[in-house]
Amino acid sequence: MSNELVIKGLSKSFITADKQPLSVLENIGLTVDDGEFVAIVGRSGCGKSTLLKIIAGLESADGGAISVGGRAITAPGPDRGMVFQEHRLLPWLTIEQNVSLGLDDRSRKEKTAAAERYLKLVRLEAFAKAYPGELSGGMSQRAAIARALATDPQILLLDEPFGALDALTKIEMQKEIIKIRHENRSTMLIVTHDIEEAVYLADRVIVMTSRPGKIKDIIKIELSDARNRGSADFAWYKQRILVHFFDEDEENRPEFSI
Ligand SMILES: Nc1ncnc2c1ncn2[C@@H]1O[C@H](COP(=O)(O)OP(=O)(O)O)[C@@H](O)[C@H]1O
Ligand SMILES: [Mg+2]
Repeated sequence: MSNELVIKGLSKSFITADKQPLSVLENIGLTVDDGEFVAIVGRSGCGKSTLLKIIAGLESADGGAISVGGRAITAPGPDRGMVFQEHRLLPWLTIEQNVSLGLDDRSRKEKTAAAERYLKLVRLEAFAKAYPGELSGGMSQRAAIARALATDPQILLLDEPFGALDALTKIEMQKEIIKIRHENRSTMLIVTHDIEEAVYLADRVIVMTSRPGKIKDIIKIELSDARNRGSADFAWYKQRILVHFFDEDEENRPEFSI
């Protein structure tokens, strides 16, 4: 059965500290195919993290519906794994224990096997007994990805997972994600403010408006799997997405180039 993610008419408001309603997401509609890689870009505060949290079941929507493979999503579940900008590993547990944290209902043997498998996938098998404090930023994020994958989720939700990493580590991590995707075949949704990252990774890029976040454009990236950041086609897609963030600003337009 297909595990298509279907989002229909989703809306969300928060009540601010001064008791005013703040509309964050309005009428979001999106279908993500089984195994598809979708990137979501938008200005800070437009509701990207809120959208991902609603899909994860960590936040509830005010209106609309989300389903995975026809099943309605209302709470967190092992079918969806999430990775945040900060690794959120527990410092007093080993990497192996952190990775198998979501598998409390399984036997010890199963937990160890899952930790082994996913630590190998993110190339951290030699660090199973290490503590988070002993790992670099990139390694910690790889451990966080292994933890999210440990429950074998159909959908991996990545909220600016490489935002805190240096430029070179980030490129390594992007390559890593592509490798994991090919081995694991899960559906992936990544929120990023890095347009190059979106074009490098995704099958489709969703551009959101400023708050309240609505879908402004959906761009299908028709580049080969082995993408070249230096190619003219790649630059064309970057430009195509970037103009969305400046096209309201008429005065800047004539000078705008990348
Ligand atoms: N729990 C909350 N209570 C009140 N306001 C919130 C809450 N979570 C997020 N917001 C507000 O909702 C808006 C969207 O937040 P967020 O989804 O984190 O945006 P993004 O990830 O696109 O930067 C922001 O203005 C933020 O301050
Ligand atoms: Mg965010």
